[in-house]
Amino acid sequence: MRKKIVAGNWKMNLNLNEGKTLVQNILSGLSGLTDNKQVVIAPPFVHIAQTAAQLQGTSNIFTAAQNCSSEASGAYTGEVSTDMLLSAGAQYVIIGHSERREYFKEDDAILAKKTAQALSTGLKVIFCCGEPLEVRDGGTQNEYVGNQIKAGIYGFNADQLQNLVIAYEPIWAIGTGRTASSQQAQDMHAHIRSVIANQYGNVVAEQMTILYGGSCKPSNAPELFACPDVDGGLIGGAALKAEDFLGIIAAMTAI
Ligand code: PGA
Repeated sequence: MRKKIVAGNWKMNLNLNEGKTLVQNILSGLSGLTDNKQVVIAPPFVHIAQTAAQLQGTSNIFTAAQNCSSEASGAYTGEVSTDMLLSAGAQYVIIGHSERREYFKEDDAILAKKTAQALSTGLKVIFCCGEPLEVRDGGTQNEYVGNQIKAGIYGFNADQLQNLVIAYEPIWAIGTGRTASSQQAQDMHAHIRSVIANQYGNVVAEQMTILYGGSCKPSNAPELFACPDVDGGLIGGAALKAEDFLGIIAAMTAI
């Protein structure tokens, strides 16, 4: 049975005290997690040790970084290595978020390098993909996202992919209040699964957790998560409020 995951991406929000309170409130309302229904919290770098310490002794809830360096160590001012993240208590790292691709010009080659670096260090990867509005309007979203997947992960073997989760986030739905319909999400998730199957076969594709991201809320999560190929969500804005995040988690645990 493949894993379902709800992951919260705080982006560049919340100071240390605010983050501590949010994690406390999430933990106090959390229930229903299992080995196959898990939660990931991705705060900014400076929170990671604190968040990981708060999650110590809990099960099926993990800390993630939102980014990492593609280099192992050395003279790269301002960068954070995967080994540092692991030692601070992170178990996951988000790679290829559309904001990293767009604002920080991270291309397919650098994202594949970051993914290799993370996997070799022992971090699990949430690899993001998704098309901009003009691609969706032009009707070539399947080809566009398929190419992101091929460039990002085809270089890894099936064993390595066991430590990788895909997040499909249509850029036009991120932070806009405009959600993909459950049919649009299901269609793309099934396409992504077929792209995985083409390279690795059906067994690997069926095991791959594929999250949906983009204006996911407690109100629309049940319908999105009911789609057969949608295995949970990567949540931005709604992950900043314990009540909303817990509502989305409840939509996953109810399935
Ligand atoms: P959103 O962001 O939920 O605020 O739309 C999702 C994301 O960027 O991961």
